[in-house]
Amino acid sequence: MPARPDLAAHYRDLPVLVTGGAGFIGSHLTRALVALGARVTVIDDLSGGSEENLSDLLPGAGSTIAPSHGFRFVRASILDCDALEQCCRGVALVFHEAALASVPASIEQPRRYLDVNVTGTQQLLETAVRCGVRRVVFASSSSVYGDQPVLPKVENQMPDPLSPYAQEKLTGEHLMRVWALCYGLGTVCLRYFNIFGPGQRADSAYAAVVAAFASALLKGRRPSIFGDGSASRDFTFVDDVVQANLLAGSIHGLDAPPAQEPMLAGGVMNIARGDRVTVLELARLMAEIVGIDAPPEFKPPRFGDVLHSQADISRARKWLGYEPHTSVRDGLKATLDWYRSIRD
Ligand SMILES: NC(=O)c1ccc[n+]([C@@H]2O[C@H](COP(=O)([O-])OP(=O)(O)OC[C@H]3O[C@@H](n4cnc5c(N)ncnc54)[C@H](O)[C@@H]3O)[C@@H](O)[C@H]2O)c1
Repeated sequence: MPARPDLAAHYRDLPVLVTGGAGFIGSHLTRALVALGARVTVIDDLSGGSEENLSDLLPGAGSTIAPSHGFRFVRASILDCDALEQCCRGVALVFHEAALASVPASIEQPRRYLDVNVTGTQQLLETAVRCGVRRVVFASSSSVYGDQPVLPKVENQMPDPLSPYAQEKLTGEHLMRVWALCYGLGTVCLRYFNIFGPGQRADSAYAAVVAAFASALLKGRRPSIFGDGSASRDFTFVDDVVQANLLAGSIHGLDAPPAQEPMLAGGVMNIARGDRVTVLELARLMAEIVGIDAPPEFKPPRFGDVLHSQADISRARKWLGYEPHTSVRDGLKATLDWYRSIRD
């Protein structure tokens, strides 16, 4: 296991860009970086995220961070070359969270998804090289594994994407590797498994399952399950994925050449808890925490959804010293508390 990096020393005054920083995961990551003293720019077109997710950092009534801190929010698309170039200038490290992130919507709108998730990712890499960025940490997805019966999923398993979204994440990983090999840019790919927590949108038709269940249960309604509920997921609390990003953005120092450190040449790591809970168990657990009796309603399964998902996290442990800290129950309690707080 590598020596644990001194995160405070590494991030203090470090110029960092978070793409998609107004989204669910990006906003948690942004807050953690600001708390460590990094100088953070966020680029987000707010197509999926919201300024509210960053309200404590933005100037205005709710702001808790002094403007002198150097936090900057740029409302623009990563497809806008000029805006992206301005955001990348002077930056040492990029966390690439921006994406269109719904599996069903990617099946409905494959061209729109391709533009943002593939062209946008390549454009980010080209701009990063031009601007002298030293490392890009990429938000990939467990969806690249598809529905193979082998569990847990290990990184050297053959990918089998089942949707445009999953294929685009796999292409993103390949772009990360190629940009390390051809242009010497340090790149790391983190395959997230079902991340949940405060700030996740519950108001879209494609809301992640925890957000959708929370929204239903807190209104006293029965949660809807697509399929029979036996599908299982490696539900991971957002703080753990933030921790993985902070480690990936600091491990070996930003001057480490990718050629000498395979992890930095598009190395792929699963980021999860390393166990799994069925969707039915999740619904029961959440109803128990809320304190209501609300048996789920069952709907037809959705095409493109994988059946079972559980990660082997040995590689992230070995390469990053990553360790998940939050149990599913504790994460759900914190998440439900947050949904309650925004309703009050
Ligand atoms: N939440 C999960 O369980 C999960 C699992 C696997 C991978 N991921 C990946 O993690 C990343 C963050 O996911 P999230 O759950 O926070 O989703 P999210 O939708 O909340 O965040 C994505 C952000 O990207 C922004 N964005 C979209 N298109 C953009 C564009 N063209 N230019 C600039 N910004 C743009 C959106 O406005 C949004 O704020 C995504 O790349 C997603 O694919 C998430």
